[in-house]
Amino acid sequence: MGVDETFALSVGDRLRSIEDRLTDSAFGQTPFVTEAASHIINAGGKRFRPLLVVLGSRLYPGADPDAVERAALVVELTHVASLYHDDVMDEADLRRGAESANHRWDNSVAIMVGDFLFARASSIVATLGVDYVALQADTFARLVQGQIAETRGPQAGDDPVAHYLRVVADKTGSLIATSAVFGGMVCGAPTEVLRALAAFGEELGVVFQLSDDIIDIASDSTGKTPGTDLREGVPTLPTLLVKAGHDPADARLRQLLSGQIADPDVLAEALGLMRAHPALAAARAEVERRAHLAKDHLAVLPEGDAREALLELCDRIVSRTT
Ligand code: IPE
Ligand code: IPE
Ligand code: MG
Ligand code: MG
Repeated sequence: MGVDETFALSVGDRLRSIEDRLTDSAFGQTPFVTEAASHIINAGGKRFRPLLVVLGSRLYPGADPDAVERAALVVELTHVASLYHDDVMDEADLRRGAESANHRWDNSVAIMVGDFLFARASSIVATLGVDYVALQADTFARLVQGQIAETRGPQAGDDPVAHYLRVVADKTGSLIATSAVFGGMVCGAPTEVLRALAAFGEELGVVFQLSDDIIDIASDSTGKTPGTDLREGVPTLPTLLVKAGHDPADARLRQLLSGQIADPDVLAEALGLMRAHPALAAARAEVERRAHLAKDHLAVLPEGDAREALLELCDRIVSRTT
């Protein structure tokens, strides 16, 4: 069963309205603040988290459209705020096909604008109610701790792959889970369904980040610089699998993966070796396995277009290449 066309059109309408309100929420006291805060919002992005809110909100009839939009704004603004900060941490110079804020201005601007957008998200979530505020706060705390844990790396006794998967669940799964749950909350979904949406969103978030990490290696057209994770020495599933192996043929690659790679020629060499390595296919297989787990959580949701669209979304994420 495919998703009904009328359903898809009305989801599209809602997303367009969210888009206008996103631009409004970046409005600051001075033209500079507005420009810097709009910069990454207007550069595009998949708006994946707002889409999850909107789809979740269609599981049951009767959601207040304005509340749906506000919930979507909260998750996207939180996401964008974290991107401003993430690009400082990762020293990234490209985001959504545009110059990152840290590169266009400087780290201080990027950090403060991220804080500004997070404050905007906080003002909006307050209008939704205390349950939303509490969940948003817990989510942001998890996201940030995921970023901290990634920066610190595994500690003595930690398994590097397990550490990485925990980081991914925290830094990415948490907000994607909350996006799905916010959707369920605005349409009054019962607790059992909210739990399923949380588990679904978290698993989907892991799938999303794992495929993003693969794309960082495999694709040249993401709007980000390919090989950024390799350059910065950020561990990802494919590189961890290479490092965990003992094949002598991988000695050069393992050496390249042992730290940051500043030299563009060496980075190109590492990218070439990674792209040809079976670890990339193994990571893709893990993405597919987890996408099935995500879908399984949807079994308790009411049948209909919303559930169908969530299932299709899982497939799209597994097959995306940019
Ligand atoms: C980027 O998120 C950061 C990750 C968690 C991988 P998205 O891939 O959703 O970025 P945009 O919003 O489409 O730019
Ligand atoms: C971003 O993680 C996750 C958050 C912003 C919380 P990454 O550093 O892996 O994402 P990209 O590749 O820069 O989008
Ligand atoms: Mg990054
Ligand atoms: Mg990062």
